[in-house]
Amino acid sequence: MSVDVLLGLQWGDEGKGKIVDVLTPEYSVVARFQGGPNAGHTLEFEGIKHVLHTIPSGIFRKGTVNIVGNGVVIDPVTLKREIDALTKINVDTSASLFISRKAHLIIPTHRLLDAASEASKGSEKIGSTLRGIGPTYMDKTGRNGLRVGDIESPDFLKRYEKLRNKHIHLLNQMNFEFKLEELEPAFMEGIALMRTLNFVDSEHEMNRNILAGKQILAEGAQGSLLDIDFGSYPFVTSSNTITAGACTGLGVAPRHIGKVYGIFKAYCTRVGSGPFPTELNDETGEAIRAAGKEFGATTGRPRRCGWLDLPALKYAIMINGVSDLIMMKSDVLSGFKTIRVCTHYEINGKKMDYMPFDIVNEEVKPIYKDLPGWNKDLTGITAEKDMPAELASYIQYLEKELQVPITIVSVGPDRRQTIRRNVAELIS
Ligand code: GDP
Ligand code: IMO
Ligand code: MG
Repeated sequence: MSVDVLLGLQWGDEGKGKIVDVLTPEYSVVARFQGGPNAGHTLEFEGIKHVLHTIPSGIFRKGTVNIVGNGVVIDPVTLKREIDALTKINVDTSASLFISRKAHLIIPTHRLLDAASEASKGSEKIGSTLRGIGPTYMDKTGRNGLRVGDIESPDFLKRYEKLRNKHIHLLNQMNFEFKLEELEPAFMEGIALMRTLNFVDSEHEMNRNILAGKQILAEGAQGSLLDIDFGSYPFVTSSNTITAGACTGLGVAPRHIGKVYGIFKAYCTRVGSGPFPTELNDETGEAIRAAGKEFGATTGRPRRCGWLDLPALKYAIMINGVSDLIMMKSDVLSGFKTIRVCTHYEINGKKMDYMPFDIVNEEVKPIYKDLPGWNKDLTGITAEKDMPAELASYIQYLEKELQVPITIVSVGPDRRQTIRRNVAELIS
């Protein structure tokens, strides 16, 4: 009778898509609760790679109900593209995909406003994915937004034009050049497709499923350090990416939250601008990027790479109430002689073990502990007993520091490259 939540503890791209797909057989319902097509969630099985942006990562498992909650922002253009791609490979979404009427719509001028805002910021730009996320959430909180349920209204077009014209006015004020006529036809095609989808009052669906005793998994997007309240503001996204976001983004009361799975990479990455204390601007960073194929699933941009940051991870665990940790991409660190872990920051000569208010303007010097690496290919390992001793010590060290068990260790992008650990013996 509870909703488990799975979310990223770093700056996104931790591997949420893969693990949601791995865990889906244990759940009847998978639900997205925030973000939009800024997300790119990758799944790999049977030699094929799939990238989802709006649709929950439970979609490939037959019989699973997939809900896009009220907290998500939906671009009909991207959604159509995703559904078309799934249809091509015979994944039928007609009986398994449900969209909240209260989810907000991204319209083409939201994307233009995102681009105009970034252009006006120059070197201080956020490094947004340019998917219109910020402007759409601004219209939501500004109480001007268009919602999925509005598509069912006879005056939808009038409402769309009213919002679009307001945006055109803003874009002109910003002296931003654009060709809306090139974007609107695809939007209208997307809206036409959306009219064929299952719209639901998702808060009722969710609570009906909870009462019926169904197992439900809420799938986060982005990561905790991109959270609008607790991330590295202003270099964040525009939604609550943390556990609390699952309550507001799905209409689930806090007392119904069960397990909280927190996902992190065995190192750190970030795409876009903003502070990154453990970033490596050297050949080690390059080596991690190459081994981890660290290029964005949505924008293709190279991801910035660095060592694991424990103060940041501890912060994310605290804010989210993480009960189970999942460590991803352990295989990427194979072959590194030494693996570094940041245990503290030094700021203005002071040693700190938590993230201060301003890590944007202050110089943050990471203090590292060095651990021995493992020189073994992990990608074929499926049982804990076959792990190299150095990896086992790395995991043990992290569990002791973080005081949360690491219940899954991922050793490759494929579904099968996943090691489940026996929780009973953990943390001493
Ligand atoms: P998400 O946004 O959190 O779902 O993560 P992304 O899909 O954006 O990025 C994770 C990338 O790492 C994808 O290309 C995955 O296929 C890949 N991946 C996931 N887990 C592992 C792993 O354990 N090892 C390796 N080498 N790649 C992984
Ligand atoms: P998934 O779900 C990584 C980053 C952008 C930018 C900032 C704001 O795949 O982990 P936005 O478009 O939201 O206004 O961009 O947030 N960002 C992500 N980085 N993974 C994501 O999603 C991201 N979604 C947004 O790069 O720095
Ligand atoms: Mg991603």
